[in-house]
Amino acid sequence: MSILIKNGRILTATDDFIGDILIEGEKVTRIGQNLRAKADEKIDASGMLVFPGGIDPHVHLDMPFMGTSSSDDYSTGTLSAMHGGTTMVIDFILQTQGKSLGDALKTWKKKSSRKAFGDYSYHMAVTDFNEKTKKEIAGLIKKEGITSFKTFMAYKGALMIDDGQMVDLMQEVKRHGGMVTVHATNGDMIDKLIAKHKSEGKLSPLYHYLSQPEVTEAEASARFADMAHYTGVKSYIVHMTCEGALNAIREATKRNQKVHVETCIQYLTLDASLYEKDFEGAKWVMSPPLREPKDQATLWAGINQGLVQVVATDHCPFMWEQKLMGEKDFSKIPNGHPAIEHRVELLFSEGVAKGKISHNKFVEVSSTNAAKIFGMFPQKGTIALGSDADIIIFDPNEKHTISAKTHHMNVDYSAYEGWEVTGKTKKVIMRGKLAIDDGKVKIRKGYGKQVKRKPFSKI
Ligand code: URP
Ligand code: ZN
Ligand code: ZN
Repeated sequence: MSILIKNGRILTATDDFIGDILIEGEKVTRIGQNLRAKADEKIDASGMLVFPGGIDPHVHLDMPFMGTSSSDDYSTGTLSAMHGGTTMVIDFILQTQGKSLGDALKTWKKKSSRKAFGDYSYHMAVTDFNEKTKKEIAGLIKKEGITSFKTFMAYKGALMIDDGQMVDLMQEVKRHGGMVTVHATNGDMIDKLIAKHKSEGKLSPLYHYLSQPEVTEAEASARFADMAHYTGVKSYIVHMTCEGALNAIREATKRNQKVHVETCIQYLTLDASLYEKDFEGAKWVMSPPLREPKDQATLWAGINQGLVQVVATDHCPFMWEQKLMGEKDFSKIPNGHPAIEHRVELLFSEGVAKGKISHNKFVEVSSTNAAKIFGMFPQKGTIALGSDADIIIFDPNEKHTISAKTHHMNVDYSAYEGWEVTGKTKKVIMRGKLAIDDGKVKIRKGYGKQVKRKPFSKI
């Protein structure tokens, strides 16, 4: 099977030119201008942008959490991602405290097997680090291609590890060439504030926000950076939301430290005023919570300064029925919101179309940097000779409106209902196959494959 894409505006993290791309099998085999080649299929991309498939390195598919499970599985999650221009996700395997990492991996292999439309990889969330689980780290990196280990500094009693475990884990992961990632918030402080608000009868979603003030994230980000500096492990902070936290990382650069930073599309586009909508605010109950306009400005600036390298989603959708679990108590609202489908289009619309970021930066933070940071570049994250042909053909001018009535995610509301977006994913090529053609699905469930990643010492 071969495809020739003609006359598109080809964008990578560094290139921007009108040209043609030849795809043979699963790979890009030629790039140039006025390419003459025989192909099974020709696509005229005149007037379109052509860029590498989006990579969302922070999603939670079919994940048991807060007494329920996220409502998108590998099938609906990766397919809705693809409709919006994301061809690969990295999902979190969640260790159950008291059980092994291997058990958790088995469970996630069952969840993903023969289900995904797009490609996927795993992070391992270590929620119980001890002498037994320590012995599993090397094998996960070397045999399973799972090189990133997620930690939680919050959700005590279910997911949180303490600082002693964190340092121990960092040392072990570093020894084998992996990376430690973190949900950086001060769990003890948050738990205290939740208890205080509840004791005062303050039970609406607004108090979810007021229980996680900026300082809880800023403090934990600085502490995590300190521990990473001490151990020398490769480090990454997920879903950063605020000025205080980014300044902690800015500060760490002064001692020549590199801490990778991810933010999510919602922290760039939505703010905490949504928590004033009574219980409807539950749609945006996530951790950390949405912040203030000044934090959005910091994050956009952080992207342009290169301090924030990735824009993900932390996609963790729940049906409205599930959100109602917390109708009388904000601390029981399952944390998370749906965004996997609209990340690329929202980033283009709010970022590029509104002049906040360049076209190259858009590709960098939606795809290329995730591939580089997580050890998949140049197989993923770019359009280059020999790269996987995961390619988006995108109309930069088409306007459309986001709605739960038309989205593909398995969730009965949209966090962006009624938003008008400029720019639309028209065609998606997934490892050499036309996968989405003007909204129509052309590949079968199960086409998506696990991408095993190399230890960082070997890259
Ligand atoms: O609210 C969130 N973020 N839910 C998913 C779990 C996590 O903390 O990433
Ligand atoms: Zn988190
Ligand atoms: Zn998450």
